[in-house]
Amino acid sequence: MKRILLVLTVLLAKSLLLSQAVTYNNFYPGKIWKDNNGVAINAHGGGFLYFEGTYYWFGEHKIAGPAGNRAMVGVHVYSSKDLYNWNDRGIALHVSDDPNSEIVKGCVIERPKVVYNKKTNKFVMWFHLELKGKGYSAARAAVATADNVTGPYIYLRSYRPNAYKWPVNATASDTMEAAGGDSTLLKLPGEERAEAGYFLRRDYPKGQMARDLTIFQDGDKAFLIYSSEENYTMNIAELSEDYTSFTGKWCRLLIGGHNEAPAMFKYEGKYYLITSGCTGWAPNAARSAVAASILGPWKSLGNPCVGPDNALTFHSQSTYVLKVQGKKNAFIFIADRWHPQNPIDGRYIWLPIQFNNEGKIVIKWKDEWNLNFFNKN
Ligand code: DGJ
Repeated sequence: MKRILLVLTVLLAKSLLLSQAVTYNNFYPGKIWKDNNGVAINAHGGGFLYFEGTYYWFGEHKIAGPAGNRAMVGVHVYSSKDLYNWNDRGIALHVSDDPNSEIVKGCVIERPKVVYNKKTNKFVMWFHLELKGKGYSAARAAVATADNVTGPYIYLRSYRPNAYKWPVNATASDTMEAAGGDSTLLKLPGEERAEAGYFLRRDYPKGQMARDLTIFQDGDKAFLIYSSEENYTMNIAELSEDYTSFTGKWCRLLIGGHNEAPAMFKYEGKYYLITSGCTGWAPNAARSAVAASILGPWKSLGNPCVGPDNALTFHSQSTYVLKVQGKKNAFIFIADRWHPQNPIDGRYIWLPIQFNNEGKIVIKWKDEWNLNFFNKN
């Protein structure tokens, strides 16, 4: 009897301790989402790539505890055929143990995004990099490449983009110091300084700041979209043919608008951008914008979220818009519900994107949904 009890206790303890793999047929926004090993998916600030019939999800690997927002491991990658069930494919980009490396353990690696370059046959990963121990002051866009989609990604370099290049939409006054010198602008609020071209001119010789970012691939071209000018202004910069540097063709948009968390997609020939405001890890209201040409002009469309908690983007912040393959006009809004005190417990918010009669994006909360939603549209 004692023996049976012991065996039963051990079995119960094991089943409680071991993670359980689950098969999903739906999305459950905000709920723990387990991978094929029964472990919660750890890929925050995610970027997605569809390659040869499989979706890949790249994201920040977070650890437990308040230090978990620093890069202690690297960029995690998962793969899926159906978008509901994800296989752990390991660490695509590892942080380095070399104290001289820009991606040394303890740096900040955020919002990794991957595109495939047909010409070079390489996978190209861009991410927001902050150097170890320097807070958010480095404000760099960094790039790594790999021969295989799941990696290993080899770190190449980081940039403050477009040094000595004016944007395509620069005005004559943007390129000239203010009357009496730019120091006279220092008394203005940041938004107005951005509008007066202060940050643009300040960073012209060393390159523009780049924090929250995403990539958008448009045919053979790819563009980096990033928060610049102390997060007051967004930039869109064309990437070189191999996607690892810049052509020098770029634009400023939402000038002085204080946007971050960009996510871009193309619908019926137009470019749509979803962003957030800037309140650190705390949620705020999402914004959206549209343009006929990627380098602008861009027009603001307001908050795409509708219904309860729309002023807080359902307690989340945008990171990507995923185009569903094989379905017409099917796009998923993907956002992070950050948990800064215990970043590993951050959750994922996936919601279907709808469009209203005025061509505006509409995002509504759902506790549970699946891809059949798009059949109704
Ligand atoms: C909000 C950004 O969107 C995140 O990626 C991260 O940079 C936090 N701010 C840091 O406070």
